[in-house]
Amino acid sequence: MKNTLKGLGTALCVALPLLVQTPAGAATAAANAGADQALVQRGAYLAQLGDCAACHTAPKGKPFAGGLPMSTPMGRIYVTNITPDAQTGIGGYTEAEFARALREGVAKDGHNLYPAMPYPSYAKVNDDDVKALYAFFMHGVAPVQQENREADIKWPLNMRWPLMFWNMAFLDKGAYRDKPGKDAAWNRGAYLVQGLGHCGSCHTPRGVAFQESALDESGSAFLSGALLDGWFASNLTGEHNAGLGRWTDEDLRTFLKTGANRHASAFGSMTSVINNSTQAMSDQDVAAISTYLKSLPPAGGNAAPPYAYDPQATKVSLDRPANDAGARVYTAYCMHCHGVDGRGFAPMLAPLAGNPNVLAKDASSLINVTLNGTGDLVINGVPSPFPMPGFAAVLDDRQIADVLSFVRAGWNNGAPAVGAAEVAKLRQSTQAGR
Ligand code: HEC
Ligand code: HEC
Ligand code: HEC
Repeated sequence: MKNTLKGLGTALCVALPLLVQTPAGAATAAANAGADQALVQRGAYLAQLGDCAACHTAPKGKPFAGGLPMSTPMGRIYVTNITPDAQTGIGGYTEAEFARALREGVAKDGHNLYPAMPYPSYAKVNDDDVKALYAFFMHGVAPVQQENREADIKWPLNMRWPLMFWNMAFLDKGAYRDKPGKDAAWNRGAYLVQGLGHCGSCHTPRGVAFQESALDESGSAFLSGALLDGWFASNLTGEHNAGLGRWTDEDLRTFLKTGANRHASAFGSMTSVINNSTQAMSDQDVAAISTYLKSLPPAGGNAAPPYAYDPQATKVSLDRPANDAGARVYTAYCMHCHGVDGRGFAPMLAPLAGNPNVLAKDASSLINVTLNGTGDLVINGVPSPFPMPGFAAVLDDRQIADVLSFVRAGWNNGAPAVGAAEVAKLRQSTQAGR
């Protein structure tokens, strides 16, 4: 275990020099203000890389004032206020206390944070970046007085001290260290994906104690796809059907920058990642993430042949939809956007033919998006013009199962059928969460 906090205390003392207002001192003051401003700016960028706003800014709420409910296996919790307000926010945090909250999941008063705050990933953030983030949250964010809300978790599950043992078992302390033999882009990508980007918090399957079953590429489950909160976060390894094996480096960069490419569109919980985080990344950082993801070997191997487009059989059923319940629903409700050929009008309207999400074993995301539609993807301030509408009020469980089974069989997708019971279950759980 490495002591990552070492030296932060001294760094703090150095950061608070008293400025003497002589003409020479004024120049120093200006230079210092300039330096701080640059640090605050860098912190603002890092906060985007870390997508802090996705959780800490509630819809229509003030930036970083918290309040957003999050469901955990134990019950509902509320994200906290991390504006620099001294009473209700983190204004009283020293840099060392901030670092401990971010990387070890311990609040200023010593209580353990629930791992819904992705500190197991942020543990990899290096000291320089923590410093810049701290400068941003202290000087670049407006203080908001807003009390935190108690979690709706009942005794004894609301006791936080067992989290100490959770951390002993699962928290991998120590900032990211460059892997020898890998180039700078790969290492930067690994640092961002495993650390601030916390991609694994959604994309890596969880174990029995809700821990991510791997925190880097040394574990084969890393980023192999996982169900969280009604959305299946796709396999991001080199698997060539449900994973990113058929995506070029350019496809991947386009997706992260714009939320869509010729294979798929972002929806569900990925929407806020694109809206608040990846689209703001520099070209260099997006390229680094792509380099790293493209290096991941296919989880589960690549034994099945790669998808190849073949529209013939599907076109025949769409010509005679009366014979096929799924084709009937598709022609009436889906075809004008997703096309007879299943290719949609990418990247504006998502293709369904060969789409990795459609080919994934777990159909939860497909059911969820068909029931509930999806939040708006907003690129450069412009919301997507034809977002996927929700059909919960229009189609019953059987019809949704039929149309998705049709889509999963169509255009040579060859993915397993969807059952009405699966749809009913997600209908219930997603409606309850609203
Ligand atoms: C996936 C959601 C999520 C993201 C992303 C996230 N947080 Fe949090 N954060 C939480 C939750 C939930 C809590 C409160 C946990 C609790 O009460 O046990 C929290 C608590 C905190 C706290 C402790 C404050 C307190 O008094 O409770 C700090 C500091 C913090 N987050 C900073 C950050 C920063 C900085 C980022 C971005 C780099 C970030 N968080 C991103 C969910 C998130
Ligand atoms: C809050 C949960 C969450 C986080 C965090 C998250 N993702 Fe996702 N991601 C999803 C979900 C759900 C999907 C499936 C829906 C879709 O395709 O947009 C997805 C899909 C994707 C896809 C498209 C895959 C495909 O086959 O269509 C890519 C690429 C991706 N994520 C990359 C990333 C990267 C890189 C990060 C970290 C910077 C990240 N994601 C963080 C939830 C998340
Ligand atoms: C108004 C146009 C429109 C209609 C009608 C429509 N969709 Fe969509 N659909 C979209 C768009 C756009 C997306 C991409 C996500 C987004 O930006 O909202 C999408 C995404 C999807 C996805 C996720 C694939 C991905 O990678 O994004 C599935 C599955 C899907 N639609 C199925 C259906 C089904 C089934 C129907 C009919 C019941 C249907 N859609 C009707 C526009 C439409």
